[in-house]
Amino acid sequence: MLDATPNRPDLPPEIARRRTFAIISHPDAGKTTLTEKFLLYGGAIQMAGQVRAKGEARRTRSDFMQMEKDRGISVSASAMSFEYRENRFNLVDTPGHSDFSEDTYRTLTAVDAAIMVIDGAKGVESQTRKLFEVCRLRDLPILTFCNKMDREARDTFEIIDEIQENLAIDVTPASWPIGMGRDFLGCYDLINDRLELMDRADRNRVAESIRLEGLDDPAMADHIPAAQLDQLREEVEMARGLLPGFDPQAVREGHLTPIWFGSAINSFGVQELMDGIAHYGPPPQPQKAEREILPEEDKATGFVFKVQANMDPKHRDRVAFVRMASGHFTRGMKLLHVRTKKQMAVSNPVLFLASDRELAEEAWAGDIIGIPNHGQLRIGDALTEGEALHFKGIPSFAPELLRNARAGDPMKAKHLDKALMQFAEEGAAKVFKPMIGSGYIVGVVGALQFDVLASRIEMEYGLPVRFEGSQFTSARWVSGDRAAVEKFANANKGHMATDSDGDMVYLTRLQWDIDRVERDWPEVTLTATKELMV
Ligand code: G4P
Repeated sequence: MLDATPNRPDLPPEIARRRTFAIISHPDAGKTTLTEKFLLYGGAIQMAGQVRAKGEARRTRSDFMQMEKDRGISVSASAMSFEYRENRFNLVDTPGHSDFSEDTYRTLTAVDAAIMVIDGAKGVESQTRKLFEVCRLRDLPILTFCNKMDREARDTFEIIDEIQENLAIDVTPASWPIGMGRDFLGCYDLINDRLELMDRADRNRVAESIRLEGLDDPAMADHIPAAQLDQLREEVEMARGLLPGFDPQAVREGHLTPIWFGSAINSFGVQELMDGIAHYGPPPQPQKAEREILPEEDKATGFVFKVQANMDPKHRDRVAFVRMASGHFTRGMKLLHVRTKKQMAVSNPVLFLASDRELAEEAWAGDIIGIPNHGQLRIGDALTEGEALHFKGIPSFAPELLRNARAGDPMKAKHLDKALMQFAEEGAAKVFKPMIGSGYIVGVVGALQFDVLASRIEMEYGLPVRFEGSQFTSARWVSGDRAAVEKFANANKGHMATDSDGDMVYLTRLQWDIDRVERDWPEVTLTATKELMV
């Protein structure tokens, strides 16, 4: 085993054993299947297939909406916790569709590492690239899983080259595949020098690994046909010569990604990947605020990175997902809600397990807990044991598409307003109230989000809604000296609106307008992002 001393060796054991990560992939690469196998090996579910159980049975938390079933995409993010050997894994799910980049970005602020799943036949696809770039912005360590090796896959060197070139990150093989498609036998584990063979008879069982004295061990020939063995030896020798070696420090710094080859559906390579996260994945990392918040600090702190309304249609609740940044939280603790300066008794926090939620009696730095609330908690909010902290780095992006929201039934316009505000607070859309005129303008980053919103408003509130073309196409937050902003707003009333936090927004359809404002109104600033920290 390589030296896996974490970059923060002095963490208390409960914190040091936590791994909080996300899985990123292009749709169809096998994220759901891999997640399911993680849960299976983590003992969180008893049987593969449970996550996808149809009918009344709950699907993975990330998969609970009608829309998702209809379209086969994952729309909402969620978190699941489970034990794996000595470690506690917190797996934060990322929405899988390219339209949901903002939500995804925020989800990735809550994790310390990411697993990138690629399809062995397809290599790096568009969505993988986008998500990877987001991880890059945050220097997240990335572990790669090349899936579907039981099918015809691309040449191993070609896959590695493509990742190195397309994503500009060094790749080191943690395992090397032996054959592919029908001839796929398994992998040679380069970290532990052992052979792992795939058991095709039982998809939920992994054949015992065989410990060997390196690739030259004569016992190899008992398990691998001569031609494939020659090829394996040759390829591994080439790989060792051409590719960087496994350097845990470079992995943790996000410069090097180890790659495992496997087949999620056959449960092959999954445990090696899980062991990889356990050994080489980072423990909870410090978070940025006015000062650096260290996970081992005594006092509990955390920040809201996601709000989800109506998770359970039977209870109209709203759950704020909180990433614990430091300390040890216990149920019933009173925390300061920094934005409102109010104390909040957190008496019914929930932990999300594979198919259920349960009360969280405690949580350590790195954990994700859900706090049911009636709308007090918003994205970016800080909860602390008293200190007025403001976490940094959770931005709100200007929407790229704007439409007018119209209630299908005009008598219910008021209800629609309420539903829209709720989604705005959830971060699912931007909702702007124009200074002149009635109704709301809704802004999203990707067009599919309008369908999701319409479907949710209909399902959760029983309100039919239409999103119609708006005269505006861009929104910019306006900041500056209060008097200057007021003067600017009065001079541009037809363009002005307020967002759900009451902040001033300038709406337009022309980049030219934005340039003009920048030129003519030097005392105000237009921005395409807003830091949510308050
Ligand atoms: P996603 O969440 O990334 O979108 O992918 P998902 O796990 O749903 O997998 C997409 C498809 O790929 C599924 O097939 C799944 O069974 C298949 N798959 C996943 N891992 C492997 C693997 O290691 N080998 C092979 N050959 N296939 C794999 P599907 O036909 O779309 O769905 P289903 O009918 O199997 O549920």
